[in-house]
Amino acid sequence: MELFALKSLLFVFFLPGLCAGTSVLPSGPVDVLLGQNVTLNILVPIKEGDIIIWNYSDGTDTNNVGSLRPGGPQIGDSYKTRASIDPKTGFLTLTSVKNEDSGDYSINILQSSGGILTGEIKVRVLVPVSDVVIKSDPTEAIEHNSTVVLTCSASGSFLTFTWTNGTKLITTDGERLTVADSDGSSKLTIKDVLRSDLVGPIYCNAKNSKQQRTSPPFNLTVYYGPEDVTISPMKPSEYITSNSDFNLTCAARSSPPATFTWYHNKDEIKASDPILTLKTIEMQGFGKTLADYTCRAQNSKTKRVIASPGVRFSVMEPISGAKITATPTGILFAGNSSANISCQATSGNVTQITWMVNGKQLLPSSHVVFSSDQSSIFFSVLKKEDNGVFTCKLQNSVSQKEATYNLAVIYGPEKAEVRGEAEVEVDSEVVLTCSASSVPPANFTWKLNGTVLKVQTNTLRIEKALYKDSGTYTCEARNSLTGLSTTSTHTLSVKEEIYDGLSDGAIAGIVIACLVAVGACIALFFYCRTKVPVESPY
Ligand SMILES: *[C@@H]1O[C@H](CO)[C@@H](O)[C@H](O)[C@H]1NC(C)=O
Ligand SMILES: *[C@@H]1O[C@H](CO)[C@@H](O)[C@H](O)[C@H]1NC(C)=O
Ligand SMILES: *[C@@H]1O[C@H](CO)[C@@H](O)[C@H](O)[C@H]1NC(C)=O
Ligand SMILES: *[C@@H]1O[C@H](CO)[C@@H](O)[C@H](O)[C@H]1NC(C)=O
Ligand SMILES: *[C@@H]1O[C@H](CO)[C@@H](O)[C@H](O)[C@H]1NC(C)=O
Ligand SMILES: *[C@@H]1O[C@H](CO)[C@@H](O)[C@H](O)[C@H]1NC(C)=O
Ligand SMILES: *[C@@H]1O[C@H](CO)[C@@H](O)[C@H](O)[C@H]1NC(C)=O
Ligand SMILES: *[C@@H]1O[C@H](CO)[C@@H](O)[C@H](O)[C@H]1NC(C)=O
Ligand SMILES: *[C@@H]1O[C@H](CO)[C@@H](O)[C@H](O)[C@H]1NC(C)=O
Ligand SMILES: *[C@@H]1O[C@H](CO)[C@@H](O)[C@H](O)[C@H]1NC(C)=O
Ligand SMILES: *[C@@H]1O[C@H](CO)[C@@H](O)[C@H](O)[C@H]1NC(C)=O
Repeated sequence: MELFALKSLLFVFFLPGLCAGTSVLPSGPVDVLLGQNVTLNILVPIKEGDIIIWNYSDGTDTNNVGSLRPGGPQIGDSYKTRASIDPKTGFLTLTSVKNEDSGDYSINILQSSGGILTGEIKVRVLVPVSDVVIKSDPTEAIEHNSTVVLTCSASGSFLTFTWTNGTKLITTDGERLTVADSDGSSKLTIKDVLRSDLVGPIYCNAKNSKQQRTSPPFNLTVYYGPEDVTISPMKPSEYITSNSDFNLTCAARSSPPATFTWYHNKDEIKASDPILTLKTIEMQGFGKTLADYTCRAQNSKTKRVIASPGVRFSVMEPISGAKITATPTGILFAGNSSANISCQATSGNVTQITWMVNGKQLLPSSHVVFSSDQSSIFFSVLKKEDNGVFTCKLQNSVSQKEATYNLAVIYGPEKAEVRGEAEVEVDSEVVLTCSASSVPPANFTWKLNGTVLKVQTNTLRIEKALYKDSGTYTCEARNSLTGLSTTSTHTLSVKEEIYDGLSDGAIAGIVIACLVAVGACIALFFYCRTKVPVESPY
């Protein structure tokens, strides 16, 4: 039932076609790769007794390929070894097709019923796709400047081309990016090429209905830059220490890598490295004054030259060899000498000098006059208070150094003074100290009641005072440089020891008691001796 319906449906659809002869064969073309087999199918059923004739035409000549007759298939002479016709279906098979097999194949079916059906189909023998390659013109490009034409060529028949960027299909925009195909090749044109355009990498794909081949990956070097030309450090300190390992470094994005030139203001520095060392700067006599330094990056392919921002500094020698000298060099007396203390460095440009005395800042006054450059201080009349440690601090922007000087102003001794106990017990320790302000420190001599003692230090020490140590002590402080001396006296009294544990009466009582006791003992002894009978030895 269903089968019948289907058959009538087919009949309804195909009958007009059969009469027109268009649907005996499928609509072509049939593509077959060179060397492969192809079978041409017939769309209508064949009945016993039908005669089928297959002919080939290359457009000018027609050749018989073969026919199916009631006696069986008959193959034309030139097709003997490579064509066959299926006796049941009438399908024509060609084996190992050659280029020359491309063309139109026609069929004539002489039906036993008397009808004639004809059909025609085009067969295309395809040359395999091979040698898909991309070539570029030019082979080197300059970003924003070059128009690059990539040509993809391949061998093969009936090829269509596609371009891929990495894995993405390239879509053209008809303006910057255009594609034009011609016989056997395709051209991709990129105007004002960018560095990023052609590093996908780019592939070209060539295909026909049976086959496809992809080109090897293609990259094009697009030269660009220099751009983002930077100099570092961007903000160096204004003063750079001479001979330090300071460097300026220049960098730029550029392909091929940029080459560099260096400038001191408008003057070129002879250096071509991306790193400019301070040594190079100083060796060429630059750096002595504040100046701008720039680098220029140049690209040999794009011919573009870009300058970095400028950095500004000057080179400064650190201070060394700070030293104080004082004049006059002889002995300086308070109230009579003047002094000039001067501070100098052997190298380095000193920009600031500060003076300190005993760790406190020294400021100019009527007593001490500073030279206009602060490098020396002058005392027209020295005072004893000027004794001390003088420090000068030399500074510049890159370093500081100090020098110290011990100023000795001779004076004194001033009023001597003895300190110590005035009254001590016998056997106790006595320490007398004599002091007198003096520079240099005074020498001392001691006397007792006018008699010179051995002690020559400022301290007189008696470990166990005796009564005879009492008396008037005189300390003399002497300064041989000033020729002056001062004295001071001190009275010491050493008290005689007194046993004050018991009263005098008690001591007398004890003595009397002892005498009585001893007397009693003696009396007892003699009493006993007379009373005890003694045995006669006789
Ligand atoms: C088929 O080819 C043969 C030989 O060339 C020719 O004689 C014949 O007329 C052709 N038949 C048709 C239908 O074209
Ligand atoms: C083509 O046909 C020949 C003969 O029938 C057969 O030997 C061969 O394997 C076929 N080749 C292919 C690729 O099918
Ligand atoms: C290829 O892809 C990259 C990254 O998406 C893109 O920048 C570039 O423009 C593309 N190139 C082309 C020719 O489309
Ligand atoms: C092409 O360039 C890209 C990006 O630079 C890289 O990853 C890739 O390996 C290159 N391919 C070839 C064939 O040079
Ligand atoms: C400066 O450059 C020199 C030579 O290139 C290198 O030896 C030195 O370490 C660099 N100094 C600094 C601070 O980068
Ligand atoms: C790039 O293009 C500009 C303007 O079209 C031209 O002057 C310049 O010479 C070009 N640069 C190179 C390296 O071809
Ligand atoms: C001051 O010094 C001078 C010269 O050295 C000397 O003749 C004079 O006696 C000194 N006066 C005093 C008060 O030291
Ligand atoms: C102090 O000494 C310095 C260095 O010798 C000198 O330049 C300066 O004039 C002197 N000052 C006075 C007041 O003598
Ligand atoms: C020292 O610094 C002063 C002021 O900055 C400058 O005039 C002078 O030339 C410098 N001297 C040297 C030797 O650098
Ligand atoms: C020193 O003089 C005092 C008072 O004249 C006297 O008491 C003392 O014994 C004397 N000392 C010596 C050691 O002469
Ligand atoms: C103290 O005595 C020594 C040795 O006699 C001497 O060299 C020195 O100058 C004297 N000092 C004073 C301040 O008189």
